[in-house]
Amino acid sequence: MDINTDLESIAASIVENTKAIGEYRLKDSSGNIQLLPRDAPQEAQHARQLLLQASIQLQQLCTEPSEFLDQAQIHYQQLSAFQWLIHFQILQHIPLGTDVSVAYEDIAKAANVSSRRLKSVARMAMTGGILAEDESQRVKHSRISAQIVSEPALLDWALFITRYSAPTALAFARATERWGDSKDKNETAYNLAFNTPMAFFDHVSQSEEMTQHFAGYMRGQGRSSGLAVEHLITGYDWARLGPAHVVDVGGSTGQIALMLASNFPDLSFTIEDLPSTIEESRIQLRDIDPSIASRISLKAHDFMQPQPPEISHLADVYLLRKILHDWPTATAHKILQNLVSSMKPGARIVVMDTILPLPGTFPTPQEAALRVRDLIMAQNFNSNERERDDWIELFGSTTPPLRLNNEWQSMKSVMAVMELVIQE
Ligand SMILES: C[S@@+](CC[C@H](N)C(=O)[O-])C[C@H]1O[C@@H](n2cnc3c(N)ncnc32)[C@H](O)[C@@H]1O
Repeated sequence: MDINTDLESIAASIVENTKAIGEYRLKDSSGNIQLLPRDAPQEAQHARQLLLQASIQLQQLCTEPSEFLDQAQIHYQQLSAFQWLIHFQILQHIPLGTDVSVAYEDIAKAANVSSRRLKSVARMAMTGGILAEDESQRVKHSRISAQIVSEPALLDWALFITRYSAPTALAFARATERWGDSKDKNETAYNLAFNTPMAFFDHVSQSEEMTQHFAGYMRGQGRSSGLAVEHLITGYDWARLGPAHVVDVGGSTGQIALMLASNFPDLSFTIEDLPSTIEESRIQLRDIDPSIASRISLKAHDFMQPQPPEISHLADVYLLRKILHDWPTATAHKILQNLVSSMKPGARIVVMDTILPLPGTFPTPQEAALRVRDLIMAQNFNSNERERDDWIELFGSTTPPLRLNNEWQSMKSVMAVMELVIQE
């Protein structure tokens, strides 16, 4: 391909999609700091995605090979600066509002850090879109930092990736050198990064603070457009089930059950998870509307064990969202087998997880988001995301085998919804 032709077609796409977004923004009078609010029409969202895709292609085409390493350094220093800001809760010390700025010295004093260091770090972060400075060299929020600090779920997410995920990713090469292609849950990059012999979830559940951080991270991820919990509402015909009981296996602190219960008044739920997470759910769910609360129960249950009879008599659907990808195939098989062995006639399993595409078959930002997930699975669990054939093989491995009855994949979601029934 001729680089000039590529550059021209990317530039044309940028002009076209910028115009489409601009037209929408002119009509939007909400004053929202997001480029596009979550409920913006499909065409506007699609134009934004295409713009993002074009900007990535443009950047790749315009980068000289020798600049690649400069870029790599910029990326890790921007991440390190972001980690520093989150660690010292700097974003929280800056009032919201585009015209409100604060002197470095005042923030440094309030956060108990050196003002000299704060300036270096903040100015690095600004090159990546976090924070900004006014003409008097005082700090203010950028559009992105304002949004992150305003939403507790996004702050939780930022905390988790900077405190846990990034150090784990950097230990990946050492873990592979030490343990090769191990499938053991306690021979991972996470084990090296956090100097623990315990498997990820065992380690997390030992600490109240980490349990809260992980649950917050799960809630935060629900705000990512590719992981938005809303994809589960449109991705499956819940209304068709009528008055059914759904068991949310590994349901964390209940955000999924809560959202489904709010949208489908005929459904009732049991949220199952490890005891420490169920305790956290009681706190998270304590103030919800009684008409929804009456349809949600909590149960500490280890999904490595068969379902308790009082649950399996009740369950019409077992929902496993972001569960099986955490585990290597033998363990994922065990989790499914435990359900198959206790399913009542007519019951089904709904799995929401990633189906890994072949390279280049998805737009770059979406494919990259999926590959992030694949590596997170490898680094934390010695697991991996699965391609379509891997899923079919896993489902068929139970006794009796499960059959993929229906599947739904939105281009906007990094996960597909798969309905499984027991093969007659
Ligand atoms: C990746 S999170 C997914 C949470 C939720 N389903 C969602 O979609 O946001 C995995 C969940 O599995 C839970 N979990 C891990 N091991 C478990 C086990 N042995 N039994 C029950 N739950 C477990 C974790 O506590 C966590 O809440």
